[in-house]
Amino acid sequence: MKRLFEVYKDYFTIGAAVSGRTIETHKDLILEHFNSLTAENEMKPFSLQPKENVFDFSKAEKMVKVSKENNKLLRGHTLMWHNGNPDWIFSENGEPLSRDTAINRMKKHINNVLDYYDGIAYGWDVVNEVIGDNDQPPLRQTPWLKAIGEDYLEIAYKTAREHKSGIKLYCNDYNECDPIKRGRICDLIKSLNSKEKLVDGFGMQGHYNIYHPNMDMVRESIEAYAALDIEIQVTELDVSIFRFEDDTKYETPPQELLDKQADYYGELFKIYREYKKYITSVILWGVADDATWLSNFPFRGRKNWPLLFDDNHQPKSAFSKIINF
Ligand code: GLA
Repeated sequence: MKRLFEVYKDYFTIGAAVSGRTIETHKDLILEHFNSLTAENEMKPFSLQPKENVFDFSKAEKMVKVSKENNKLLRGHTLMWHNGNPDWIFSENGEPLSRDTAINRMKKHINNVLDYYDGIAYGWDVVNEVIGDNDQPPLRQTPWLKAIGEDYLEIAYKTAREHKSGIKLYCNDYNECDPIKRGRICDLIKSLNSKEKLVDGFGMQGHYNIYHPNMDMVRESIEAYAALDIEIQVTELDVSIFRFEDDTKYETPPQELLDKQADYYGELFKIYREYKKYITSVILWGVADDATWLSNFPFRGRKNWPLLFDDNHQPKSAFSKIINF
């Protein structure tokens, strides 16, 4: 069988999100078809600094080892986020954080993590999901923003940039094809890059479904981000067979929906190939349908089939569409 990442070697790298479990249970597929790994949860703040000043890198060690031994890239995800934090991080003796403490904690986390992964991770999402949804203010009202103020973003990127010069710094978000949110994301990146280039690239998460976003929205969005003179990555791609608010349950996925999904993946990758000048990596948020967060989101226990390989780790028609072009 052709290997996905080899077929795409003249376009962009092909990544997969892996967990401490799937790096074993899905190892064959990971090694065969992907040349970049992202930790699903193992490099988030709650994993890496469970207690103040106690850094624990053990949960991600298996994937680091697999990536080193098999010559796979490793993409860091994520230094700062409003979710995925240890309990201690946003309080100080039971009180909300002061600006100084918040800045110190942020810098300490960033510097320690970048030191540990020096020469291991080629780049990091410095911040994840910092833009507000359309009914919210443009910047998400996170505990970091509340404690530090709007310059927390600039401080985070500068800290990372000054601490390690050789790595790529990304900004990552969802609903990135929505015109309002896209405008907000572009404004933020423009302002962060106005004095010096702090943001090297934008991560389009790519949590899509077979109806939305349509290909025009995807194309317009890629063009909008490319116009910022930064690289683009697709960082968390999966294609649900349900509309977001649809809570239908199936035992097995209807063929008609799998066919739609295959077409959707096919069209998406056609666009990605067209924009290979800007896109440096496309990363699937998982490997096979037996292990996907979408079987518990947005409805707990509602099984979904959003990936390229089926529950038995066999290639789906979506896989054929993107590998045969
Ligand atoms: C967001 C985060 C990811 C992951 C997914 C759900 O997109 O960026 O790290 O938590 O949600 O799995």
